[in-house]
Parts: sequence; C-alpha cells; structure tokens
Amino acid sequence: MKLKFILLALLISTVSIAQKSIDEKVSDLLSKMTLKEKIGQMNQYNGFWNVTGPVPEGGDSKVKYDHLANGWVGSMLNVRGVKEVKAVQKIAVENSRLGIPLIIGFDLIHGYKTVFPIPLAESASWDLEAIQLSAELSAKEAAAAGINWTFAPMIDITRDARWGRVMEGAGEDPYLGSLIAAARVRGFQGEDLASPFTIAATAKHFAAYGFAEAGKDYNTVDIGLNTLHNIVLPPFKAAVDAGIKTFMNSFNDLNGIPATADTFLQRELLKGEWNFDGFVVSDWGSIREMIDHGYAKDNNHAGELALLGGSDMDMESSIYIYELEKLIEENKISVAHIDDAVSRILKVKFELGLFEDPYLYCNEEQEKEITGSKEMMDAALEVAKKSIVLLKNENEILPLKKNGVKIGLIGPLAADKNSPLGNWRIGADNNTAISVLEGLKNYKGNDISHAQGVKLINKTPDGFHEEVQINTTDKTGFDEAIALAKKVEVVIMVLGEHGFQSGEGRSRSKLDLPGFQQELLEEVAAVNPNIVLVLMNGRPLILNWAAENIPAIVEAWQLGTQSGNAIAQVLYGDYNPSGKLPMSFPRSVGQLPLYYNHKSTGRPGTEGVDPGSVFWSHYGDEKNSPLYPFGYGLSYSKFEYSKLQLNKTEMTKNSSIKASFTIKNTGKVKGKEIVQLYIQDPFASATRPVKELKGFKAIELEPGATQEVSFTLTESDLKFYSANQKWEAEPGTYHVFIGTDSTSKEKMTFELN
Ligand code: BGC
Repeated sequence: MKLKFILLALLISTVSIAQKSIDEKVSDLLSKMTLKEKIGQMNQYNGFWNVTGPVPEGGDSKVKYDHLANGWVGSMLNVRGVKEVKAVQKIAVENSRLGIPLIIGFDLIHGYKTVFPIPLAESASWDLEAIQLSAELSAKEAAAAGINWTFAPMIDITRDARWGRVMEGAGEDPYLGSLIAAARVRGFQGEDLASPFTIAATAKHFAAYGFAEAGKDYNTVDIGLNTLHNIVLPPFKAAVDAGIKTFMNSFNDLNGIPATADTFLQRELLKGEWNFDGFVVSDWGSIREMIDHGYAKDNNHAGELALLGGSDMDMESSIYIYELEKLIEENKISVAHIDDAVSRILKVKFELGLFEDPYLYCNEEQEKEITGSKEMMDAALEVAKKSIVLLKNENEILPLKKNGVKIGLIGPLAADKNSPLGNWRIGADNNTAISVLEGLKNYKGNDISHAQGVKLINKTPDGFHEEVQINTTDKTGFDEAIALAKKVEVVIMVLGEHGFQSGEGRSRSKLDLPGFQQELLEEVAAVNPNIVLVLMNGRPLILNWAAENIPAIVEAWQLGTQSGNAIAQVLYGDYNPSGKLPMSFPRSVGQLPLYYNHKSTGRPGTEGVDPGSVFWSHYGDEKNSPLYPFGYGLSYSKFEYSKLQLNKTEMTKNSSIKASFTIKNTGKVKGKEIVQLYIQDPFASATRPVKELKGFKAIELEPGATQEVSFTLTESDLKFYSANQKWEAEPGTYHVFIGTDSTSKEKMTFELN
C-alpha cells in the first residue's frame, strides 16, 4: 500500500515537472525577449517569396524578409516542401537574436498532396474512424513536407447551402458535427504532438461564420444565445475537450461585434470558462477588416480591439507588428496582454518539439517516402467509397452488370481530373484525380464511350485564384452526347458543380445544376431514360426534376484523388453504398435556411394534411420538407426495423435508459445501415427542436440476417442550454425516434424525473 502511494506520488511529481518544465521554459524565454521580439511572435506572414531563390531586393517582400531575420515573425503560412520550410526556418533560427523557430501553418482541409473527399462528403460516411484516419494521414503527409500546424478542422455548423463553405464542414447537425470535430482533432494531433508525424490543429471559424446572412460569404451574423449555445458552439467545445491547440476566429461580425474582437467569445468563454490554453490566430487580414466592418477607426484601433478581444496572432494584417508597441506607449493595452499571447504561442511551439529540433518536420527522405504513398492512396479510396450517398435507385438499375453492356458516359465532369479534387487542394497538383472515365475503364467487360456534352470554361480572374465554370453559352457538344445516348443501353451522366464553384467566396443564389447541364440532362433523358446520374458537388443542390425523372442518382460530391475508382466500385456493386446526408437537400432556394432540427412554431400544421386554413407555418407554393432529408441514404440492401422499445418509461438524472430494436437485411446483398436515434423534448423552459440526433451506429448484415441493436441515453444526452442560461436536462417527457433517417416517425416516450 505504502509502495503504491510512493509510486503514485512519484508519478504525479514527474508529470508536474514535465508539465512545469514547458511552462518554465516559456517564462524563461519570455524573460529574455524584448517587447519587439514578443510582438514578432504574434505576427504571421504568408510565404512571400521563393525561399530557396534569391533574397528579395526591395518592396514589401524585402521588409518582410528583414522582419523574419530580426525575429519579428512567429509563423508563416503556405510555405511547404522540406526545402522551402528548411530555408525559412534557417533564417528564423540562425539570423535572429534568440533563434525562436517558426510554426508553419497550412490549410489541410481535405488532404495535402493526396486529396481526400471534401469534409462535407466525409461527414456523409458517419464513420468517425475513417474521418480520423483521413486527418491522421493528411497530417502525416503534410508533416513530411515541413508543415507542423493546420488551419483545420473547419467546424462551422451551417443550415444554408447557398454558402460556398458548406463543403468544408460537417453539415447542419451539432451532435454529428461535434463528434467529427473531435475525430479530426485526434487525427491531426495524435497522441504525441512532438512526433514528426503529427501537427497542431485549429478549430475554426470562431464563431458562427456558417450563419452568414442569406448564405453570402463574410456576411453579418445575427443569432441569439439559444442558437449560439445549442447549435454553433458544441463542436468548438468538443474540439477543446479533444485537446485542440489553436483556434481561428472568423470574418463575420456576430450580433454587432466582429468575431476577431469578441471578448465574450475569446476571453470569457474560450480562454475563461472552457480553460483553453492554446492560442487564437486571426483569420486572413481579419484584424484590418474591422475597419471595413465599421468597428475600428484605423489600424491602431483595430490592433487594440483585436488584442483586447483575445486574438493572439495576426494573420497577414501586419497590424500587430506596427501598432502594438505604440498601443503600449499609449497605455491602451498592457505588457501582460502581450505576455499572455506570446506564452500561448511559445507553449505550442515547445509542445511541437520545435525548440528541441527546429527541423523536426524537415526530413527529405521521409517526404519522398510518404508523399502519395500506397498507404495514402488506399486510405483515400476507402474514405471516398464511404462518402458516397445513394439517393435513388428505381427498378434496381444499380449496380450495373459488369459484362456486355454498352454504356454512354456523358457530362462535363465525366472525364475531368481536376474538379474532383475540390476547392481546398492547394497542396495537390492539378489534374491528379482519377476521373470517372478512368475508374470505369478499369472494368474491362463493358463497352464505354464518352461525350462531354457541355464544356468547362477556365477562368483565373486575378491570375491567381482559379475559377472554372460550366458553360452557359455553347451547346455544340449536345448533338454528340444525344447521338451517343441513342446508341447505348445505359447512360451514366456526371453532372454538378466544378470543384471551384464551392468553397470560400463561392456563395450561390441558385442551387440548380449550373450552366447548360439541366438542359442536357433533359434532352438525353428524352432519347434514353435509362440514366444513372452521378453528382459531383460541394453543397446540396436542387434536384427536383432529376428526382422525379431519373431512375438512379448517386451523390458523389468531390471525392479527391481516388474519386473515379470509388465511384466505379459503387456503380458496379463492388462497394455497397452506406453514406447518409449530413445536410438537408432543399426543394427550392426559398426554403433556406433549411434543417431537420427546426423548432415547432405555434402553428406547425402537418405537411400533406389539409389544416383547413392558410394560417399555419408553410409556403403557399412549396412544401416545408426537404427533397432529401438529413440522415437519408439508400443501399443496395434493404433494411427493416422492428421491435422498437425502451427498457423503462421513467428515468432519474443519475441513471440511464436503453432503447433497442431489431434490424433485418431483407435485401439480396450484404450491406451496412447507419441506424440513427433522435430525441425530442416537447416542452421545456426554452423551445426545443422537433428532433435532435443523439446516437448512430453502423450495422453490417448479410442478406436475411437480423441483429438486435441498442442505444443508451443518459442525462447528458438530454442537456441543452436552457432559459436559465446553463446546460441542464429538465425533468419531463421525452420522445425517442429510431430509424433510417431524420424523418422516422414511430415514437417512444419516457419521463425524466
Ligand atoms: C480562410 C481561412 C484560412 C485562411 C488561410 C482565409 O481566407 O477563411 O479558413 O485558413 O484564409 O488560408
């Protein structure tokens, strides 16, 4: 007993010495730093010259170079590849007085050289292990290229498909979004941050960026505490609980205050209540943008507001480096504010192992071995297959036969090797995705011909940001496509948005198939209705016509490097799809924002049942329901749910309740179903959603097989941010729904005492 006690005491003291030693090292270093050097740590520049080339001779690049050499830059972003990173690191470490290494940031939103499916697609897998693996391998590949910090995961909940950045997130649900956020943090950061294969992650954009008014990027956000706490913040809290090292604030203002200067969000909540001990980086130029918001009168004022608001590092505004010293002289901020920010930044650098070895992430052999390796490719394929959602499959047109079928492959995206890489593929080489044409051609038994139908237009308006659109003026490809459709048994049409049509700054006011694609689809269907529509898109689209007239629809998003292989395996049935939508697909833009976990209203009505009045919450010209609901997705198998039950009808706060059911695969092939559990709190101190996801499981079954499945609910599943402004579960009635998607109707009831 005594020995056990001594060992425990020893363990505790060793842990606290190790912990203390980083804190001590930070304060030792801080005590040696001049004010300017401290401010330098808070300054981040974008890669501004070809580092392995000559030193810049004049202008802004020369100024920035001198800052770097003086130790007035704490971080750089978008410098990548061992040679380049080593070169900048060398300047920071060897030229500056204290030799403090840089932290090198990069957006690994869905991979580095090997591109994984866009996050919205990965979220459709509902497979947390797969999502974690994708982050883990992206980190491994990027770390091998010198990067040690990523500006991911993007965990903004959003309800508006017009917003182009829905492709970067996990969709509309805070429960799924929180689990995915934590999985991605675990993937990027691993168990040991100082390993050369793991990197620091960033939870972004803090906060409510996904609620941009009218889905227009960068737009103002005005939401109340109920939505903020119950919907927007949970994934951020989950990221903190998973040990995330950094946060990025957001471009939007929230209820009148730009997030970059929001003391409530960054100081009270994040660094206060949540005890977050990492650092906060601004978004690109967001400190300066507070002037355009009409919140700061000039650069100096913007610097003051951002620092007091809790922004520790300035991404690309150059405001901290020029203004913070003056602000100290003017007594508008204190050295304690600076010391706090710098300590947070240095701590993460120590944790990354950069002080022991600034070149830890700069091993050229490792870079060669890991970049695009088989491990990467296999994982990218696996995750891509899991991300596909089967939306419709009438008369079992899918899966396709593998032999003797004449297939016409039509559409602007069918042979395209660039679009499937999605928007955030800044580390990847263009045209490196496997196209659908290539994927299908790996199956030799069928005769496949291809026609583009509608062309793509390449545009790079500012000569830098790539822009590709789908043609709106030229229909010359139609004849060839229609002639092909007439000759074949099955037409596969690959339509959607180009990879550059969603993402940052890519909001849309229309959500139909862009360009001439809808027209092409209808003309082809008129000559051959046997169509499999493969969609590639970065956001929910409006598919009313296709849903009514096309027998099979496969949602294939932008699936990354292995896109075409994944799609071919699904079309041929070598992989049975199991993805479920992480966002509702609307029937019309006028329905937006659209989400399954909406409130009831005082006049809910029931869709399809005539309430005998116009005075209920609905549209006169459109249904309330989405075309495809949250959680929806088919399989080549069929699943039947039965014997839904709760093990009791009452539950106390410290106990739990079990919901169980039996699921049977009544189809002809082995398949996987993602079973979902939702609750409803029908009466509460603040109104609650009609349904909330609280559990899901993937159940794989052979044809004819059955399995009993259960979920356990505890008090914490029932908690919400109540009218008392705290997280609590309120006593009363709760309903439980179990089924294949968010529309499941069979209701079970219990009381919480
Ligand atoms: C985006 C961020 C991104 C940053 C750096 C900004 O425009 O909003 O999400 O991390 O650029 O690339």
